[in-house]
Amino acid sequence: MTAAPDASPVLRLRDVAKTYGAGEAAVAALTGASLDVHGGEMVAVMGTSGSGKSTLLAIAGGLLAPTSGEVEVAGRPLATLSTRRLAAVRREVIGFVFQDFNLLPSLTALENVALPLDLGGASTATARSEARRALATLGMRERARSFPDELSGGQRQRVAIARAIVGERRLLLADEPTGALDSVTGEHVLEALRERADEGAAVVLVTHDARHAAWADRIVYLGDGRIVDETRAARPESLLSGGVQ
Ligand SMILES: Nc1ncnc2c1ncn2[C@@H]1O[C@H](COP(=O)(O)OP(=O)(O)O)[C@@H](O)[C@H]1O
Ligand SMILES: [Mg+2]
Repeated sequence: MTAAPDASPVLRLRDVAKTYGAGEAAVAALTGASLDVHGGEMVAVMGTSGSGKSTLLAIAGGLLAPTSGEVEVAGRPLATLSTRRLAAVRREVIGFVFQDFNLLPSLTALENVALPLDLGGASTATARSEARRALATLGMRERARSFPDELSGGQRQRVAIARAIVGERRLLLADEPTGALDSVTGEHVLEALRERADEGAAVVLVTHDARHAAWADRIVYLGDGRIVDETRAARPESLLSGGVQ
């Protein structure tokens, strides 16, 4: 599952620009962002509020079309795909974690997590056992049979994250996924994302918290609608040994 050194990136963004609206009201959220993320790699995206982080992630996931520039996911240029093929790529290749969790209220936690696999054609038994494993990773094994309205905000968020990491999807996109969580649970989420990267997935994590970004291999900074800087991340262990908080 580990990518060969010369393997092409799972996510490739080239000169991506996005302008919302037109005329006087136009907002240039991105002006020329380029980023490659390979399998096995976790990249943190940082930047001030309004710098275009969520826009970048939505474009990377095929939820939003760029105004110009190119987006490739697992070697497929998204702009060339039919609506149906694009939906299939979103379902089978990409896992999303957004700030609003979008759980289906009529399904249990387990059924919500199993849904992407069910839709992708997995057998019910496989979908359920993978979903159980993902819930357990997030410390939610005991709540598998609960419905979303029986769970706290933080628990719902963990179910949403389990749903994003379930199966073998090659690209995980997480937009400030620890928002509503206490710091211990937040660590679980970062650990789960890190584990998927170590298993070979490409992971993009939007965060404003440097301690969270430290879980990544690289940190990129968005400014003026493009990526203006990049650093190698220090792993949490080194932050701790350096005496930071
Ligand atoms: N649907 C939208 N319509 C108009 N402007 C938007 C829309 N979404 C985002 N923007 C604007 O685009 C810029 C980037 O937003 P966003 O990608 O949400 O940034 P971030 O996630 O870094 O806070 C901001 O100026 C924001 O107000
Ligand atoms: Mg945002």
